[in-house]
Amino acid sequence: MAILSNKNKTYDTTGLKVPVSLAVIMDGNGRWAKKRLLPRSAGHRAGAENLKELCRNCGRYGVKYLTVYAFSTENWSRPEDEVHQLMELFVEFFEKYDPELEQEGIRVRFTGDISALPEKVRKTIAEGEERSKNRQKMQLIVAMNYGGRREIENAARKLASKVKAGEIEPEDITEQMLSENMYLPDVPDPELIIRPSGEMRLSNFLLWESAYAEFWVSETLWPDFGYDDLTQAFKDYAGRDRRFGGLSSKEAKS
Ligand code: IPE
Ligand code: IPE
Ligand code: MG
Repeated sequence: MAILSNKNKTYDTTGLKVPVSLAVIMDGNGRWAKKRLLPRSAGHRAGAENLKELCRNCGRYGVKYLTVYAFSTENWSRPEDEVHQLMELFVEFFEKYDPELEQEGIRVRFTGDISALPEKVRKTIAEGEERSKNRQKMQLIVAMNYGGRREIENAARKLASKVKAGEIEPEDITEQMLSENMYLPDVPDPELIIRPSGEMRLSNFLLWESAYAEFWVSETLWPDFGYDDLTQAFKDYAGRDRRFGGLSSKEAKS
């Protein structure tokens, strides 16, 4: 990583440690719209536009897996027309922007309870995954109808079936086996989770995978979250002392 340029700005990122696996909770679309006296749907549209920007920036920084929270299992409790607009926007985004994602070498995958999504959305998901499967630079993983608890519930059910079938004994179950039965076991746990909009909670995002993730919150609302915010998050992340329950590397040597 050396010099990165973006919109007439140049950043020297030499030596900056960037997460291999990054997760972002795309929150604050409603507040962004409210500040501008616009309908919430305008905020969601601006948020979708910004996802394209984040993908480009993460690709340039060398992030390999970018997981974004697009729609939670709890978001169904919003008014029906907002849910409908979000689903429509989702389909539109992947139809409109796939050529740009292709240009950036971005493979698209999805995580969540996909089977419960409307037919049209499932079609977009299947086509998007198929079309992009050979792209190598970065994986964009979109969490859609995703809930961390539902993911764990699903993994528990899969293991319980194996017990019932006599393939394993209950005492054989390990953390590793649970990990292997999450939605996308080949995607590394995120080292860093970013939440724009100031909320300091996970809202049911990546509960299993976030055990040792660093958490970074910014006041910037998601549609405004840009290159400077991302750069700041990476700088702060690079300075964190990740101890994983042990001692810091300095203490361990003394
Ligand atoms: C995130 O923005 C988008 C989704 C949850 C789908 P919000 O719609 O939650 O925006 P705020 O939190 O109301 O500002
Ligand atoms: C989390 O945001 C879900 C997404 C960004 C998709 P929410 O706006 O739904 O979370 P809460 O309700 O503030 O916890
Ligand atoms: Mg919100």
